Amino acid sequence: MAILHLTRKEHFNAAHRLWNNSWSEDKNYEIFGKCANPNFHGHNFDLHITVKGSPDPETGCIINLKDLKKIIQDQILEELDHKNLNVEVDWLSNCIPSIENIVVAIWSRLKPHLPTGVLLSKITLWETHNNYVEYLGE
Ligand code: NI
Repeated sequence: MAILHLTRKEHFNAAHRLWNNSWSEDKNYEIFGKCANPNFHGHNFDLHITVKGSPDPETGCIINLKDLKKIIQDQILEELDHKNLNVEVDWLSNCIPSIENIVVAIWSRLKPHLPTGVLLSKITLWETHNNYVEYLGE
């Protein structure tokens, strides 16, 4: 049966700061520059969630898009939108909230909520027009 990849585009706004507690202040500013600003800074994040699977013969669809939208809304957007990612999100509290670490955490959080037969394929997180990361689960 054909395997297809289906992508849902989402968006959230959030603040963060890149800072490594085990480094000196000087080293943090040297490495992270403006991203180390103690008062945080914001981004308009674009999030692309791609799942893969085969179309159900009865619906012609891999997943009901309403269901996928609700899973992403409940598990990710409610948690991240308009939040400070350094201080307000339990499941990001053990990492520096770089787009790399955020995208891996989003993957782990979404994976158990997908219906049987639907797998995560790729998650892409855009931080600016110029910068994005892709995670394929490896
Ligand atoms: Ni930033």
